[in-house]
Amino acid sequence: MAPDESTDVLTDFQRWFFTMSRLKSFNWAFVEKQLQSSKSSEFISEILKQTCLHPLCRAVPPSFRYRKSFLSELIRLQEAAGCDPLDELYDALAEVVGAAEGSECYKTYFLPCGGAISLLEKVALISGGTTGLVTWEAGLFLAEWALDHREFFTDRTVLELGSGVGLTGVAVCRSCSPKKFVFSDCHPAVLQALRDNVRLNGLGEGASPATSVRELDWTTATGEELREIGADVVIAADVVYDPAVMRGLVKLLRVVLTGSAPRPDVLLCCAVRNPQTYDGLRRQLESCGIKPEVLDGAVSRVFPYDRTANMELIRLTAADELQPSDATETI
Ligand SMILES: C[S@@+](CC[C@H](N)C(=O)[O-])C[C@H]1O[C@@H](n2cnc3c(N)ncnc32)[C@H](O)[C@@H]1O
Repeated sequence: MAPDESTDVLTDFQRWFFTMSRLKSFNWAFVEKQLQSSKSSEFISEILKQTCLHPLCRAVPPSFRYRKSFLSELIRLQEAAGCDPLDELYDALAEVVGAAEGSECYKTYFLPCGGAISLLEKVALISGGTTGLVTWEAGLFLAEWALDHREFFTDRTVLELGSGVGLTGVAVCRSCSPKKFVFSDCHPAVLQALRDNVRLNGLGEGASPATSVRELDWTTATGEELREIGADVVIAADVVYDPAVMRGLVKLLRVVLTGSAPRPDVLLCCAVRNPQTYDGLRRQLESCGIKPEVLDGAVSRVFPYDRTANMELIRLTAADELQPSDATETI
């Protein structure tokens, strides 16, 4: 095997492990071949250094259950290849076997500029009645778009709607040099997780760029609140999944787009799970004078995630004749 190939595989193992990607995403076939050809557990030792024995795994560990499944797979491959048992592999397993599984885990997303974003997330996709306590694919896709279009955010005030646990916003803050970044959400548990994650990633009071975490509910936010934020750019990822809240979102977007001049750039990143819901959004936007334009979806693949979902990134602009409205008005 070419040495650089094994380096790439080790790097991928690290990226997938720390984002708790599905085990079937890993290149187990490569590991199997390495073990068979060398009849030594050395490659497993290298994998452990990049994953369970990496200092990040002490500081911001993936869940116990995940680590247990990962280590069990390594043990299975090692035994199948007839390699000598590796003490550190069994020691690592002993640490997680029988540990009480919590409802939270850390996920760590490596950045191309170096460093990583670590977030405390829930294990379950929906908990406490909200979808906001995990990172969604659209948030990762929007972060990747931002990394490809840094200048779009540089020296600008950015407002993010429905930030969730904060992946997109932290990626923009760490890589795109915005003047100021305002994270927002409406759910109390999400806001608390967001504040903790912003701090965990070295952002917050006294840090650069200036950041804040605000409670901002699309259904009740006012034009005055938005003017006070003074965003040059407004972004949101995976906020179009519930027809019940869409009306409030569209109403808010209209206020954003007709507020103070110059009008901000507005980007929505949508995972199109249900085409009817998505078409409903487009119809509602168009019926109140907002034009959605689909941006080129190609992005550099930075984060490991399931790319089977149809992702649309849309830029919203208001018709010139659209009159200013305040969120308290009815559309
Ligand atoms: C599917 S999550 C997406 C989170 C994050 N943007 C991501 O892509 O990982 C949707 C987010 O929208 C927030 N949300 C839902 N309704 C809202 C409302 N009326 N006002 C503000 N935020 C809302 C939720 O609390 C949640 O954090």
